[in-house]
Amino acid sequence: MMTRRQANAGIAASAALAATRASAKEQKAVTLPPPREEGGVPLMSALKLRRSTREYSDRPLPQQTLSDLLWAAFGINRPSGDRTAPYWRHIMVIDVYAAMADGVWLYDPTVHALLPHLAIDIRADTGLQDFVGTAPLDLVYVAHGERMRDVSPEDRRLYASVDTGFIGQNVYLYCASEGLATVFRGAVDYPKLDKLMKLPKEQFVTFAQTVGFAPA
Ligand SMILES: Cc1cc2nc3c(=O)[nH]c(=O)nc-3n(C[C@H](O)[C@H](O)[C@H](O)COP(=O)(O)O)c2cc1C
Repeated sequence: MMTRRQANAGIAASAALAATRASAKEQKAVTLPPPREEGGVPLMSALKLRRSTREYSDRPLPQQTLSDLLWAAFGINRPSGDRTAPYWRHIMVIDVYAAMADGVWLYDPTVHALLPHLAIDIRADTGLQDFVGTAPLDLVYVAHGERMRDVSPEDRRLYASVDTGFIGQNVYLYCASEGLATVFRGAVDYPKLDKLMKLPKEQFVTFAQTVGFAPA
């Protein structure tokens, strides 16, 4: 079994790789405003409002909303560095990417920032439904298979999917609370998106999730 130290070394290496990609493209990381960690509607009200939406306006998300959303999704909620969603064996295998009109960004919860990943608009390629190309944000969940060394490919997919599901539900509840529209998506051309995202060999997309505003 991979030790936590080895896993963390892998995480540091990934961060370094992301930084290299960033400097190569001369894009700058975007530090998000601090998330508003309080407020929202009561949990039972959010559960009552939770639903999937498949029609979106092209209105962009305010930066504070993006900040709050990403923190709710998989941000750090304790001094230990642990997250708003539970995760497999205390090894973080899921990265959250934000595909927006201005490119693809990797959410780094340790600094609550968006690190540049690709300077192209890939929203339309994050799924097989029309609205994914026009909604302001498509979250793409990516698993680090290389951090699950002693696990069969099937179980890698299983645990990574479960981890992603928790994050996805956090996003659903945040959106319900804030009056935003969202849908978790498995209808994705995975080989195409893995390639377009330029993922290293053992990383793979698990699911995607669109977020935005319902049409006025
Ligand atoms: C694993 C999974 C994959 C899904 N994939 C898609 C998808 O590709 N496209 C889509 O429109 N909805 C997708 N959904 C959303 C479901 O269709 C939706 O949650 C279900 O119909 C219930 O509707 P509700 O979320 O409004 O309660 C997916 C949901 C899950 C849990």
